[in-house]
Amino acid sequence: MLKIYLRYTHLDKKERLNLCQIYIHMKKVLVIGAGGQIGTELVLELRKRFGNQSTIASDIKDECPKLLTEGPFVQLDIMDKEGVRKFIIDQNVTEVYLLAALLSATAEKNPDFAWKLNMEGLFTILDLAKEGYLKKIFWPSSIAVFGPTTPRERTPQYTIMEPTTVYGISKQAGERWCEYYANKHGVDIRSIRYPGLISYTSAPGGGTTDYAVDIFYKAKNPGHFECFLKEDTRLPMMYMDDAIRATVDLMEAPAENIKIRSSYNLSGCDFTPAELASEIKKHIPTFSIVYKPDFRQAIADSWPDSIDDSHAQQDWGWKTNFDTEKMVSEMLENVVA
Ligand code: NAD
Ligand code: SER
Repeated sequence: MLKIYLRYTHLDKKERLNLCQIYIHMKKVLVIGAGGQIGTELVLELRKRFGNQSTIASDIKDECPKLLTEGPFVQLDIMDKEGVRKFIIDQNVTEVYLLAALLSATAEKNPDFAWKLNMEGLFTILDLAKEGYLKKIFWPSSIAVFGPTTPRERTPQYTIMEPTTVYGISKQAGERWCEYYANKHGVDIRSIRYPGLISYTSAPGGGTTDYAVDIFYKAKNPGHFECFLKEDTRLPMMYMDDAIRATVDLMEAPAENIKIRSSYNLSGCDFTPAELASEIKKHIPTFSIVYKPDFRQAIADSWPDSIDDSHAQQDWGWKTNFDTEKMVSEMLENVVA
């Protein structure tokens, strides 16, 4: 909104404020998968920036999450193509954030369904944008698009991508389709390859990086954590505040700045379980951890250690605010166990 206010300097103050009001009323956002780890915080931020009525939260769960009752909520199943199309067209939705998906660990247990859910919903939304019903789309990718043959350290934006998980394959295919719809049909699609996200507002939903959230709850109660990854497994991670800011900043950036229509690399911090435990011990000296790797170790072993996000920095001014130390302090202050 501030950008609109500052851009139209030839108008007087009242005219510029009117323009902002018109913009707010024209913008109608739908977040699909709003009840999840990212969706809950994203809806709260969008409503803070654009008003409670601007953003419709939706999820396959029929109950509106408690934190989201200040604004509209609708039960929607992204697999119900006709229902989703009807809702978006009838309600004059202008932007969609499509978050519904199976994450890496859950997807490995049900590959057929994961492929179906992660791909079909994307086509429904891409087609609506192609037909002119949507102005903009956000669809998240992941560090899971990379694989064991990818350079592990400061993984570049453009590099070898041979994912070995069904989740990674679906994200890589999704990226290719996003770029295709942007190039062939002029769809304004924006995307980020999120690292593992760390937050306390809403629980994570079945990823390989979930250990880095659970550890905070167990550190507080009972003070002991059994980690499903080995102590030296380094992964790229990010505090949720950074991820939400990046998402909305990317979506609000002028279209001409968005040079990459597949998905942007994004970096926050990176650490191993042992390093995270040692940072937690600075606050809770009695905290203890043991390592019992399970099937998720193979998934983590196929992903990068750290990410080079220089394209996001150059194109739309991305900069992380949270290193590991600051993230750990915030988590321990806010987690209620
Ligand atoms: P989540 O599992 O916490 O939330 C997903 C939400 O989608 C849930 O509330 C679920 O009820 C809903 N949902 C599931 N099936 C649905 C359907 N058929 N129709 C409508 N809603 C449905 O996931 P998240 O962590 O919030 O992730 C959101 C997106 O971000 C996903 O695409 C995920 O791949 C991506 N991502 C997440 C992370 C992370 O660390 N959380 C990292 C990289 C990418
Ligand atoms: N955090 C996600 C997962 O572990 C990465 O996409 O699945």
